[in-house]
Amino acid sequence: MTDPAKTLCPYCGVGCGLEVLPPAQPNKPTHRDAAGNPLWQTRGDRAHPSSQGMVCVKGATVAESLDRDRLKHPMLRQSLDAPFERVSWDVAFDAIAAQIQTVRQSLGADGLCVYGSGQFQTEDYYVAQKLVKGCLGTNNFDANSRLCMSSAVAGYIQSFGSDGPPCCYADLEATDCAVLIGTNTAECHPIVFNRLRKHHKRNSHVQMIVVDPRRTDTAKAADLHLAIRPGSDITLLNGIGHLLLRWGALEPEFIDGCTQGFAAYTEVLRHYEPAIVAERCGIAVADLETAARTWARAKAVLSMWSMGLNQSSEGTAKVRSLINLHLMTGNIGRPGAGPFSLTGQPNAMGGREAGGLSHILPGYRMVKNPDHRRQVEQFWGLPAGQISATPGLSVGEMMLALEQQRVGLLWIAATNPAVSLPDLNRTKAALRQSPFTVYQDAYYPTETAAFAHLLLPAAQWGEKSGTMTNSERVVTLCPAFRPPPAEARPDWEIFAEVGRRLGFADQFAFASSAEVYREFAQITRGQPCDITGLSHARLAALGPIQWPCPDPETEATAATRYDKRLYARGLFATADRRARFAPLHSNGLAEPPDDRYPFVLTTGRLYGHWHTQTRTGRIEKIQKMHPAPFLEMNPRDAQQLKIQGGEWVEVRSQRGTARLPVLVTQNIGRGTLFMPMHWGSLWADAAECNALTHPIACPISGQPELKACAVQVVPVGQPGSGAIAAPETRPETLPEAAESSILSAAPTS
Ligand code: SF4
Ligand code: MOS
Repeated sequence: MTDPAKTLCPYCGVGCGLEVLPPAQPNKPTHRDAAGNPLWQTRGDRAHPSSQGMVCVKGATVAESLDRDRLKHPMLRQSLDAPFERVSWDVAFDAIAAQIQTVRQSLGADGLCVYGSGQFQTEDYYVAQKLVKGCLGTNNFDANSRLCMSSAVAGYIQSFGSDGPPCCYADLEATDCAVLIGTNTAECHPIVFNRLRKHHKRNSHVQMIVVDPRRTDTAKAADLHLAIRPGSDITLLNGIGHLLLRWGALEPEFIDGCTQGFAAYTEVLRHYEPAIVAERCGIAVADLETAARTWARAKAVLSMWSMGLNQSSEGTAKVRSLINLHLMTGNIGRPGAGPFSLTGQPNAMGGREAGGLSHILPGYRMVKNPDHRRQVEQFWGLPAGQISATPGLSVGEMMLALEQQRVGLLWIAATNPAVSLPDLNRTKAALRQSPFTVYQDAYYPTETAAFAHLLLPAAQWGEKSGTMTNSERVVTLCPAFRPPPAEARPDWEIFAEVGRRLGFADQFAFASSAEVYREFAQITRGQPCDITGLSHARLAALGPIQWPCPDPETEATAATRYDKRLYARGLFATADRRARFAPLHSNGLAEPPDDRYPFVLTTGRLYGHWHTQTRTGRIEKIQKMHPAPFLEMNPRDAQQLKIQGGEWVEVRSQRGTARLPVLVTQNIGRGTLFMPMHWGSLWADAAECNALTHPIACPISGQPELKACAVQVVPVGQPGSGAIAAPETRPETLPEAAESSILSAAPTS
């Protein structure tokens, strides 16, 4: 038997190492699936520093999705009502190149919009930036990370002068106070949580505080759960700051030597008397004091967050308010301490390194910085001024631009916006306005395919070699271990070929992804995310490596340390090397509940599913684990509305509706409801949480407030009682997306 391939799990930002095993006896029917495809298996890689052999159900079953419903050939149609027809890659590339030229002449370069994904490998991201921001001269490349952690990026940049989570997973075992705020780590980052939980169980002095409106599995494991009202995070954090200040639980040397703006911050904190804070957050004063006391007494505080802080109309302010507490107590840059943003996707971090959002450039550079633009132009061999000085459109702005007929080409890759964007009815209408949408994905059907004119089959995880960076800045080489199905190609190759056809032969002369990575590494030289010491060959030889990893650091020992904390010497990336306090008050929810829409709906994820189910919906074990959507409601709210558990309701916001059964539970407070975000129109009938959500975004990060909108609930009777029909749930296995069926079963919207 051959050696297992070592790679990374392609789901969440924890970035667990996987070993992939080929079928032991590929010719035996028992080692093949129903369609005759060889059955691959995965197991945890004990040698991977981040996960130490552990995996969750997603990583354990991911190989099962490899041959389900794959898009195998380019498919083209003239309009969204017409059936798709199979075309050659040549025809597909010509169609894209022709449309790009037409749009450049009619609308200008800013009429081109590309929307990518944290599922990309870093090489895919990099080549796309070179094509869009460099050669085409528009910064309209955004990624679904806009929905996920752009507030974390903005918070780090404003507070520290640069992006980059400063912590390591080794801190999980070095902290004596873990504060998890706006993160259901147990379900959404299970292996990070396992590591923390073990440390917590073994050491009675270690405290775990969880801040979440829901009593999640994460909250159940905590010493203290603060079930704050949705949107009251900044008030809570300032309330903790108030007590730390009052008690003198400060680190004056750090504040004086390494920060700026403390005086203005203390002015803000004056307003946060515990009684007021507790009242606004809906918690007990004693619990607020316990949280502050635990922080004050700890030797090392490690805070962790994800979408609960980021997905907010004041997401950046929330992140900065949390960082303030670390700065005032000197809890950063040392073992067990720091503000740790847990990334959602497997390579959201690589996307940040490669400049994969519309306001940034490769190597942690900013579009708005003229020196940064110049450096990148020179590196790419492009004339001065070629990179636009204007930050590109965020994905939300792209939808508005579609409505205003300002987009001539929309190119979507490896993400499913027809499920994941807010205000979905309006989003779908905007997508229908697109004159030409290219959709590049590994799977078919997906909800977004219904809005495409051209489908491009993408090679996915295990079918192309490239790198991904996890939440703790560990880069892992993910080699191909099987060929892509039929005509599928790696994303970076597709972008490069379009570049060549537009006349940029020199810029896209890459023969392999290793060459792409070699070039990308050079563009990071001297930047905070310096990876000039990395290459595919070195990663293959040494295994995963944590950055920064600049060139001179050639000894294997330094490369294979996994505790490279940023800012360990108290020097930040701002001009004066000082971190910035942020004196901020909260504006509350963008859409507070009112008489008509009295509930706050919050949204989130379940343990087994990943995002819009493009993979996990096709995996039987996970389907059985989470077969259908539901609405969590407090028993007293249910009683007041005369709703029983299991009864169907219609949830309505100002923008749309959803129908699903109620799960009555004490795990959610009165006035708040919860709905999982995994069910798009392909997987359930009218249970899209984003039909309800609003698109109001953080003005700094552009990240929409997917975590809270105002809704009303109307009982619609029991399924089967005749009041409404039970929704048609999706069959467990889809018809094979073979050429014939894809041609005849073309979706229309
Ligand atoms: Fe994959 Fe995340 Fe699960 Fe690890 S914790 S196996 S990275 S989904
Ligand atoms: Mo994110 S899901 O950390 O791009």
